[in-house]
Amino acid sequence: MCGIVGAVAKRNIVPVLVNGLLRLEYRGYDSAGLVVVHEGKLERVRSAGRVAELRQKSANTTGQLGIAHTRWATHGIPSERNAHPHMSRNLIAVVHNGIIENYEELRAELSEQGYEFTSDTDTEVIAHLVHSHYAQGNLLLATQTALSQLVGAYAIGVIAADNPQQLIAARKGSPLLLGVGEGENFVGSDMSALLQVTRNVVYLEEGDVVEVNLDSYRIFDEQGTEVQRPVQISELDNDSVELGEYKHYMQKEIHEQPQALANTLESVCNSQSLVPGIFGAEANSIFPKIESILILACGTSNHAGQVARYWLEEIAGIPCTVEIASEYRYRASVPNPNTLVVTISQSGETADTLAALNHAKATGHGYTLAICNVPESAIIRQSKLRLLTRAGPEIGVASTKAFTTQLAALFLLTLVMAKVRGRLDEKREQQFLHELRHLPAAMQKVLALEPQIAEMAKLFADKHHALFLGRGMHFPIAAEGALKLKEISYIHAEAYPAGELKHGPLALVDKDMPVVSVAPNDTLLEKLKSNLQEVRARGGELYVFADADTHIHASEGVHILQMPEHAGFLSPILHTAPLQLLAYYVALQKGTDVDKPRNLAKSVTVE
Ligand code: G6P
Repeated sequence: MCGIVGAVAKRNIVPVLVNGLLRLEYRGYDSAGLVVVHEGKLERVRSAGRVAELRQKSANTTGQLGIAHTRWATHGIPSERNAHPHMSRNLIAVVHNGIIENYEELRAELSEQGYEFTSDTDTEVIAHLVHSHYAQGNLLLATQTALSQLVGAYAIGVIAADNPQQLIAARKGSPLLLGVGEGENFVGSDMSALLQVTRNVVYLEEGDVVEVNLDSYRIFDEQGTEVQRPVQISELDNDSVELGEYKHYMQKEIHEQPQALANTLESVCNSQSLVPGIFGAEANSIFPKIESILILACGTSNHAGQVARYWLEEIAGIPCTVEIASEYRYRASVPNPNTLVVTISQSGETADTLAALNHAKATGHGYTLAICNVPESAIIRQSKLRLLTRAGPEIGVASTKAFTTQLAALFLLTLVMAKVRGRLDEKREQQFLHELRHLPAAMQKVLALEPQIAEMAKLFADKHHALFLGRGMHFPIAAEGALKLKEISYIHAEAYPAGELKHGPLALVDKDMPVVSVAPNDTLLEKLKSNLQEVRARGGELYVFADADTHIHASEGVHILQMPEHAGFLSPILHTAPLQLLAYYVALQKGTDVDKPRNLAKSVTVE
C-alpha cells in the first residue's frame, strides 16, 4: 500500500527519496512520484511504472527539500495524472496514504472557490485545502486547519514552494515515522525507507502533526498541543532488507523460517517452563479470568488464527472463534467481557484488523492481545497484551515467515492457556518444549525438499485452476497453500476440507485440475485417503504432501512429496513450507512479479 518518504537537508535529497521508495516497493504500488523545491519552485516528476523508471526520469532533478510517494490506486486508475505528489497552484505539494471519506463534498466546495482539479484522487483536495489556508504563510497552521476538515485516514507529507527548509507531516490511521538526522530530518512510512540515512526514529502517534525543519522538529497532538515523543534507536538490520544470494525476497523469506522460528521461540526455549508473563506482566492476572478466545485477522494472518482454533480447543480446552476482521468490525456480535480478543497481524497496521480491535473494545472487550511482527505498530500499541513474532522485516507481499512465526506464537498461547487451566502437566509441558526446540531444525529439513518441489511445479505452469485439500488443523494450511498460489502465480486456487469434496467441488475434478493434498499422519489420514480415491476415480491428478510414514505411494496420476518427519501438533507449521515453495516455483514458471504481485499490497492500511 502507498509509501511515503520526505526529507529536508542541506544536500540534494533526490537520491534519498528514490532509495527510500525502493525500500518501500514491497508494500505494493502501481505508480510513483516525487517533488522537490528548487530555486523557489516545485519540480515534480511522476511515473505510472516502477520506481526504477522514476529514478531515470528524475536523474537531473535536484533539491534539498522534497516528498515522494508510491501509490496503490484507490480513487482513480493507476496513471501518471493520478500519481502523487498532488499540487495546488504550483505552491503546495502533498503526498498521502489513506482514504479521505468526505473528499467529494470538499472537492465540490473547493471547485466553487475556483480550484481546478487535475486528477481523480481524493488526495488532491488536501493540496487545495492547505493552499486555501496558507494565505499567512504558516504551513503548519494551514495543514492543521486542513486536517481538521478531513474525515478518514491519512499519513501525509506537505511542502510549499516558498518555504524551502520545512516539511509538515501528519498521521491518523496510516503509518508514518520521523527519522532524526544531524542537520537533516526525514519522514517515512516505515523504518526500512530511512535506514539509509538514520537509525534515530520517533514513532508518531494517532493524530500527530510534525513540523520538520533542518535542525529541529516540533510535534503536536491532535488537539494542537506541543508534545514530546521519545527518540528510539531502530534495531532493524539493514542486511535483513537486502536480497543477498536469493532471486526474490519471497524465496529468501521462506528460507529464513528456521531462524525466524528460533528467534520467536528464543526466550521460551531457553527457559524451563512456560509463564503467562511472555505476553506482558498483566497476563498473570488476566489469563485465569479468560473463558473464551476471539481471534481477529485478515488474509494469511487469519489462516494462522484458524489453525490456532484447533490447538486452543483441543489442548487448552478453551472455546475459540476466528473471524475475518473486515466482517467482524461491521457485525453486531454478542460480547463476553471474559473473552480474550487476539489480533494477529504481520504489519500491525492493517486497517480492518485495527478497526476490528477497536470495535471489540467499544463493545466491551477489555482483554486484548496482539500477535504482531512490528514493534511500535498501531495494533501493538492499542492492545493490552502482546507477543512479538521475531520474523524480521518481510518484504515479499505474499506472507511466508510471518505466518509460520505467528503459528509458533499461537502455539505458545495455547500452551500457556492450557497450563493456566490445569490441562498441562509437567511431563507434557516438557515434551512440548522439547518439540518446539526441535522445530527450527525440522523446518530446515523440509526446506531441503526445494529441488523436488521445483520439479513438481513445472507440471502446474499450464494449469488454470487448482484444488487444495486438507483436514482438521491442516485444512487452514491447505487454504494458505491455495492463497499463496493465487496471489503470486494468478492460478485460480480454492481450498476445501477434504470431507466436503463430494458436496460440490468434485464436479470440477478432471485431468486439468491438479488437486494438492496435505496428508499428515494423523487420526484423519484414513479418511483423507478415501477422499483422494474419490479424486483419482474422476481422473484428477493428485499432488500429495505426505508424512514419511503415511504409506501413500506414487502411482500414475499420484505425485508424492515425502515430508521428512511427523511433527504432531506442530505439523501445520512444517506442512506450510512445501506449499509456499510450490507457489513460488509455479510463479517462476509463469514469470510473474513474485515479490510484488499485481493489484496486491503488503500492508493494507485502507479499508
Ligand atoms: C495483505 C497482505 C497479506 C496479509 C494481509 C494481512 O493482504 O498482502 O499477505 O496476510 O494483508 O496483513 P497483516 O499485516 O495484518 O498480517
